[in-house]
Amino acid sequence: MTGRLRRPLVAGNWKMNGLRESVAIVEAVRNGLTPRMREAVDVLICPPSTLISSCVAAVYDTPIAIGGQNLHAKASGAFTGSISAEMLADLGATYVIVGHSERRAYHHETDDGVHAKALGARRAGLCGIICVGETKEEREEGRTLDIVRAQLAIGVPKGANARDTVIAYEPVWAIGTGLTPTPADIAEVHASLREMLGQIIGSEAQKVRILYGGSVKPGNARELMAVENVDGALVGGASLVAEDFLGIIAACA
Ligand code: 13P
Repeated sequence: MTGRLRRPLVAGNWKMNGLRESVAIVEAVRNGLTPRMREAVDVLICPPSTLISSCVAAVYDTPIAIGGQNLHAKASGAFTGSISAEMLADLGATYVIVGHSERRAYHHETDDGVHAKALGARRAGLCGIICVGETKEEREEGRTLDIVRAQLAIGVPKGANARDTVIAYEPVWAIGTGLTPTPADIAEVHASLREMLGQIIGSEAQKVRILYGGSVKPGNARELMAVENVDGALVGGASLVAEDFLGIIAACA
C-alpha cells in the first residue's frame, strides 16, 4: 500500500443481495474488526437501500460507514422509484456508488449522467465513489486507458476533493468472473487515472483514493493492494461473506 497520503478504504458493494437477516453480515464484520484494522483502514458497506437504515443502526458507534449503491441526480421530484442523495444522507449513509458498470450496462448511464450524480452526492454531503472500467473488447483493442480516462474526465466534477470523491477502477471483465488484471496492468491504469485526475482537480488528485474492484478475494487482496496507487478495494461477492470481507480488510491493514 502506497497510501502515506491516503488512508485505505475497503468498500463492500452488496448489489441486489440481502434481506433483513443479512444485517447479521454487518454485525459479524463489526465484531470481527481488530484494533489494527480499525486504526489502519476505512470500512464501508453498501447494502441495498432497503437495508440502509438497519445497517446504519448496526454500525452505530463503530468506524464502519454505510453507503448507497446509486442515486438520482436531483434532490426530489416526480421520479418514481428513484432515491436522492438527500434521502440516503437522511438515513445515515455517508457514501454512494456512482456509475457502477452494472448501472452503465443495464440502466444506460452515461458519463454526463455520472457527472450529474456526483454533483448530487456532493450537494447532500455524501462521498461519491465514481466507477470507471473497460470492457473485455475495449481491453483487447488496446483502448483501456482511453476509455477510463474519458470516463474520468467527464464524470468527475470540477472542484472534487478527497473528502467528497473516491475513484474505483473496475474492469468490467473482472467483475464476478474470478479474473483480475496483472498487478502491472492495474499499476498502469491507476497511474494514468491519477494523472488524469490531476488535470481535472490539480494537486488534490494526490489525496483522492483510487480503489481497485473486480474479483477481489482474501487470497489475492494482499497482492492487489500492494500495487502502487491502489488505495483500497471495491468488493462485490466477497463482501457478502463476513470472513472474506474481513480477510480483505486485514490485507489492507
Ligand atoms: P466482484 O467482487 O463480485 O467481482 O464485484 C466487483 C464489483 O462490481 C464491486 O462493485
